[in-house]
Amino acid sequence: MTHPQPVIERSMNDKETILVVGASRGIGYELVRQYAVQGHHVIAGCRTPQSAESLQALTDSLDIEVHQLDVGSDDSVVHFASEIGNRTIDIAIVAAGVASGNPSASLISAIFRIR
Ligand SMILES: NC(=O)c1ccc[n+]([C@@H]2O[C@H](COP(=O)([O-])OP(=O)(O)OC[C@H]3O[C@@H](n4cnc5c(N)ncnc54)[C@H](OP(=O)(O)O)[C@@H]3O)[C@@H](O)[C@H]2O)c1
Repeated sequence: MTHPQPVIERSMNDKETILVVGASRGIGYELVRQYAVQGHHVIAGCRTPQSAESLQALTDSLDIEVHQLDVGSDDSVVHFASEIGNRTIDIAIVAAGVASGNPSASLISAIFRIR
């Protein structure tokens, strides 16, 4: 399968670490792909990594690490934070399509508070 050229424009050439939550499909998946194609390191959080086949396929050729993360589960958030450890994240994007509430701010603050 061929992919269209990435459309994200970046002013810096340095490799950055990008966190994308909700990475299995949709906007999150596409952001993972585009950032990784541009040469950045991407941490991809998704609910069921074992069934995220398109995302897993990207890891064959791109610098992407996939972790289990369900934004509706405190245990999952804590486990995710412990897995990614104490490292710098340059950009964090929460694209998880959750129907109720607004977990984005609390999720991000939880990850960084825990770390
Ligand atoms: N598409 C648009 O044009 C558009 C425009 C404005 C705003 N938005 C908003 O942007 C968000 C993403 O849109 P989308 O089109 O990419 O949606 P999508 O194709 O339905 O994808 C939703 C993603 O969120 C993940 N997700 C759902 N619940 C989760 C949870 N509890 N923990 C972790 N991940 C979870 C899904 O993972 P699973 O595969 O595990 O279900 C999937 O990867 C939505 O909130 C949507 O309302 C979208």
